[in-house]
Amino acid sequence: VRNLINITDLSVQEIDKLIEVADDIVKNHNKYENICAHKKLATLFFEPSTRTRLSFEAAMLELGGSVLGFSSANSSSAAKGESVSDTIRTVGCYADIIAMRHPKEGAPIVGAQRTTVPIINAGDGGHFHPTQTLTDLLTIKRKKGRLSDMTIGVCGDLKFGRTVHSLIEAMLRYDNIKFVLISPVELQVPDYIKESMNKAGVLWTEVESLEEAMPMLDILYMTRVQRERFFNEADYIRLKDSYILDLEKLETAKKDLTIMHPLPRVNEISVEVDDDERACYFFQALCGKHIRMALILLLLNIQV
Ligand code: CP
Repeated sequence: VRNLINITDLSVQEIDKLIEVADDIVKNHNKYENICAHKKLATLFFEPSTRTRLSFEAAMLELGGSVLGFSSANSSSAAKGESVSDTIRTVGCYADIIAMRHPKEGAPIVGAQRTTVPIINAGDGGHFHPTQTLTDLLTIKRKKGRLSDMTIGVCGDLKFGRTVHSLIEAMLRYDNIKFVLISPVELQVPDYIKESMNKAGVLWTEVESLEEAMPMLDILYMTRVQRERFFNEADYIRLKDSYILDLEKLETAKKDLTIMHPLPRVNEISVEVDDDERACYFFQALCGKHIRMALILLLLNIQV
């Protein structure tokens, strides 16, 4: 059984193939509309979600399959004290594949040990979010035509931002990638991510100023300050508006900058930026459905 817990569970060749299938799904939609008939996806979301859960569900429905699941811990027997292990073992009797989001880091690994159906990590605490990274890679490939030779600025909450951790881990495997890590000192990337970058030998710098970084960037990946992971509300309030991207800040940016954000945004990108042709975050949300369709096919071992 194949699971997707970390983005590195997929080889670069497999990611290339997923991107190829995602593009083919757009071009030849009819070919895929019944390919998952009689297959069931369970979406088990112990934490809130709009894009990840609904794009997974839309993906399975567009492949001709069915969906079941819950969208909060409170609406499942977790509220009565059931363990993740028992929940996954049970749902594995009902579904062919499971996408799960949980506030505890490593919960999908525990789940994967208790079932024989594929488990997809749809976000585990402040750790990883591999299907967001697949979404991001498809977006970058569609916008830039390549996944190598670029300077990527990641900005905001790099400590708790699981999308950033997975994106960095993924991009380490492509040629000539440079990272500019833009965050307040308190929200810098964890040491294990820095160790990965050092081990891979990529160039990276840490800065606090978005303005300083802007002119050198090919990709600007904005992130939300993750309120739900703070222990202290006062710290959140102090840090939440550290970066607000607006049109003025974009004046020094490259003309072909790609502005990304996993969403939801709170205040870190002004709505005036949405109409700038470099803003790609809603396109990114659409890419999420296409790549999740491709991923479901891969993990269900359905040949295309
Ligand atoms: N990008 C992302 O994970 O969004 P949701 O929290 O809405 O799923």
